[in-house]
Amino acid sequence: MSAETTTRAGTYADRTGGAPTPGAADGHAGARGPGGQIPGPSIGPLTLRNPFILAPMAGVTDLPYRRLCWEAGAGGAVSEMASAAALAHRGRQTLAMLATDRDVERPFWVQLFGKDPASLAAAARTAVLEAGADVVDLNCACPARKVVSSGHGGALLKDPDLCCRLVEAMAGAADVPVTVKLRPGFRAEDGPTVLDLGPRLEAAGAGALILHGRYVSERFGGRADWSLVERLARAVKIPVVGSGDIQDARTAVFLLKKHNLAGVMLGRATRGRPWLFRECLGELEGLPVPPPGWEERRDAALRHARLIERQTGPKACYRLRSILMWYTRGLPGAARLRAGICREESVDRQLEMFAEAVDEALARGADPDPGAEAGEDPAPGGFPGADGDFFPD
Ligand SMILES: Cc1cc2nc3c(=O)[nH]c(=O)nc-3n(C[C@H](O)[C@H](O)[C@H](O)COP(=O)(O)O)c2cc1C
Repeated sequence: MSAETTTRAGTYADRTGGAPTPGAADGHAGARGPGGQIPGPSIGPLTLRNPFILAPMAGVTDLPYRRLCWEAGAGGAVSEMASAAALAHRGRQTLAMLATDRDVERPFWVQLFGKDPASLAAAARTAVLEAGADVVDLNCACPARKVVSSGHGGALLKDPDLCCRLVEAMAGAADVPVTVKLRPGFRAEDGPTVLDLGPRLEAAGAGALILHGRYVSERFGGRADWSLVERLARAVKIPVVGSGDIQDARTAVFLLKKHNLAGVMLGRATRGRPWLFRECLGELEGLPVPPPGWEERRDAALRHARLIERQTGPKACYRLRSILMWYTRGLPGAARLRAGICREESVDRQLEMFAEAVDEALARGADPDPGAEAGEDPAPGGFPGADGDFFPD
């Protein structure tokens, strides 16, 4: 693919001035691309420091996870989805879930799910005033049965008028930009609802749109259709960010340029690979960075684990039974290590076991980039779990 791919809105190089330029105005002092900052989407008055954004993932993108991604150079990161009904009533647990660190997260981008305009308005206000959100996002994308059957998430796409009313309510209530995460439509048979809906959401006050190019009924099956993301971007003036199936830095940059987008989101591929954001920045500047060695992988895993422990205390050992799995890819004796970590009830012991396995890998000179940076066990669709078994419904 050529970096000069032309669309009606011009080439990617046209939009960015032909080269990475200082553009981010958020004052963030974190990691940067090798040659400085690279402009990301401008959402209302905020400009993200680069176009590579961590996708919202329920049960995954908590503060420790987002922090690692910011440190690795992410241009933005979206929280786990929070219930508007709970937040409207200032639910303690939901507010706790929206913990942030202002020194790291700028902007703090909170995703809400809901279906009632008054409740979303109140929730957006609480997100801003009490959780410190700089951007609030409306989830019109989640395909989980529990969410869709109660009329939330992707089910909203069946009622475009309601989607617009929700965005209007949120934009009217909160003095921060509102974004919307979308799928192309509910069912492929009905066609891409989003192409008509996008301009209406823009008129209703949305500051940016994010499109994961699979219909809601497809859940995570098949492949994301990025041509629909480009068509949406041509239909509106606000920035459009694409999401779906990015497994490595090359693909991220390829899709960003090919479809002339303001940004791309990375989701599943970042699990256990926060450095993917650094790799994206290098790739965009034509200075590919080598994949990390075992020491960096170990340090990222240990840091992730300690951040979770700091947040949740000794109970962290249960969460680490899944989190550490992401980092065991390619380690010699990984199956034995995983079984051992899952039996342990002490975080210290889990981390000792993990560090010992890395020492063994170093001693043996094992390849830290084994075959697939993207994982050892690609499933149908090219992704572990691409069948759609992510949500516990
Ligand atoms: C475990 C998991 C949880 C997710 N939770 C959310 C969510 O809460 N809100 C949302 O808009 N999308 C959610 N998504 C969808 C992702 O944001 C993303 O659009 C999708 O995974 C496709 O991108 P990827 O192929 O890079 O993972 C989730 C995806 C996964 C795998």
